[in-house]
Amino acid sequence: ILKELKEMVNEAKNIQEFQILKSKFLGKKGEISNLMKQISKIEKEKRKEFGAFVNGIKKEAEAILDEAFLNLKKKIKEEEEKKNWVDITLPGARRKIGYEHILKQTIREVYDIFSNMGYKIVEGPEIETTWHNFDALNTPEWHPARDMQDTFYIEDNIILRTHTSPVQVRTMLSQKPPLAIISPGRVYRKDEPDATHSPAFNQFEGLYIDKNVTVGHLKATLERFLTMYFGGSRKVLLRPSYFPFVEPGYEVDVDCMFCGGKGCNVCKGTGWIEILGAGLVHPNVLKNVGYDPEEWQGFAFGTGIERIAMLKHGIADMREFYRNDMRFLGL
Ligand code: PHE
Repeated sequence: ILKELKEMVNEAKNIQEFQILKSKFLGKKGEISNLMKQISKIEKEKRKEFGAFVNGIKKEAEAILDEAFLNLKKKIKEEEEKKNWVDITLPGARRKIGYEHILKQTIREVYDIFSNMGYKIVEGPEIETTWHNFDALNTPEWHPARDMQDTFYIEDNIILRTHTSPVQVRTMLSQKPPLAIISPGRVYRKDEPDATHSPAFNQFEGLYIDKNVTVGHLKATLERFLTMYFGGSRKVLLRPSYFPFVEPGYEVDVDCMFCGGKGCNVCKGTGWIEILGAGLVHPNVLKNVGYDPEEWQGFAFGTGIERIAMLKHGIADMREFYRNDMRFLGL
């Protein structure tokens, strides 16, 4: 029996097999129990001796099984460890991480450039009164920009701001001149979305108020900004234009930074790209916020964040900014 047990004991590959083996020898119907049962067939004188003999076998079998059980457990543990082994020296799988959205990135770049020139960043509400958005900015009732076509009305005198200029009004009302502020933020207009329009887009505006401010200061400031933002050395062209809140008012072009200007698609062969609106703050605007136009002057300028980002990064369709396509976001 013991010889057989010793042969079989190492064949058990798992706990179940081991239990079967164990009961084959030590179980109630096991081989050793069977031996015990034969005690009645033995002559009386020899029973004691036989009993002790079988008990010895039983003890030994138990010892063999105990030891085998420990070995088996060790073996199972080792196999498990081998299976679960992790090579921590292998390079890990790269997770895609996010990038700062180009619009945020652009706002930050704009702010970095202007904060170096002493400008402070100011934000204001997207839901505005018509007074802050229009009247204070010298935009009378009859002005086409006040038409229901362009402006989202919430109530009679409450609208979604159509530009960030009302932030200038709010700042001038709450602070004394001199002032130098940049106000980035979302604005709303009733435009059909296409490659260059969106009913909600981002603008930033700048306002500088001081004594003896001239168009020369405005031009130099914009040249500085455009040079820093687009790189190289940029030239600025001021074309007279009309905005109710400035006088004189300009549409501002920057010299074409692509393909040398002439014959270039982006610059329509003119060598210039329209980039900002600007001008000297209208005396009526200064009066509306309680500044004396005889004492204080200023310039203001504004442009679309999407517009300058599209030019810089060569983005053809404005809608890309809002689609959240991973390929675009990972640009
Ligand atoms: N607020 C104007 C717009 O949204 C831009 C502008 C700002 C023009 C400042 C002149 C001066 O179109």
